[in-house]
Amino acid sequence: APVVVAIDGPSGSGKSTVSRAVAARLGLSFLDTGAMYRAMTWWMLANDVDVNDPEAVAIACGKPVIVSGTDADGPTITVDGQDVSGPIRGPEVTAHVSAVAAVPQVRTRLVELQRGCAEVAERGIAAEGRDMGSVVFPDATVKIFLTASETARAERRAAELRAKGVDEATITAMAADLARRDAADSSRETAPLTQAPDAVLVDTSELTLDQVIDRIASLVEE
Ligand code: ADP
Ligand code: CDP
Repeated sequence: APVVVAIDGPSGSGKSTVSRAVAARLGLSFLDTGAMYRAMTWWMLANDVDVNDPEAVAIACGKPVIVSGTDADGPTITVDGQDVSGPIRGPEVTAHVSAVAAVPQVRTRLVELQRGCAEVAERGIAAEGRDMGSVVFPDATVKIFLTASETARAERRAAELRAKGVDEATITAMAADLARRDAADSSRETAPLTQAPDAVLVDTSELTLDQVIDRIASLVEE
């Protein structure tokens, strides 16, 4: 069976960076499922859907055509043919994505797309998100639960935003939002963020990126 590496964890634990590097090293496809929830949220906001109304979100969520390009060397995400990789990282989408992701119909739809990506991945896939090991890929080859202290995660996110030239007020607001989003993602009814019983816990607080990547790649190669 093709390799599936399922990587879950809270915001800023290193999921995207680590999964992408592991995929590139092992010749696997890469799927950032958070980007899909963000793309769905971006479309809702662009089309004036009330993102705080779960029924409105449920009715609308079948409409956007969301396509993930799973090349680890250059992942892409489009909505109705439009490249949204920039805007989906902005503060508006970030503020509302947890509410949209809590709607069961949204999850049903995106989970189906995610499994489709894995099916067409030639050599297998490294997929990261909140429910890869618990819901989407219960039979994954390797399941990883990445964590880091809340301080480490907030500092990494802030450094990333600073490097992008984001202003300090927005950085502070997004740091506060990180804790709120983690709490929402962990307490929602459908597919809450949780460590699957068979997932390996990797705390990245005191590790370098290379150490984390080596560790996960060696778990896959075992
Ligand atoms: P997530 O996808 O879990 O939100 P990211 O992959 O976006 O996390 O990582 C957030 C930031 O933290 C990135 O800029 C990344 O380079 C940095 N980072 C990730 N892991 C480590 C680590 N072990 N040590 C230092 N920085 C890290
Ligand atoms: O980049 P960051 O870790 O901050 O977030 P992300 O991985 O882009 O995910 C954005 C949001 O999408 C999360 O806060 C969750 O609400 C949701 N999400 C989810 O519910 N399930 C997933 N598999 C992935 C993301």
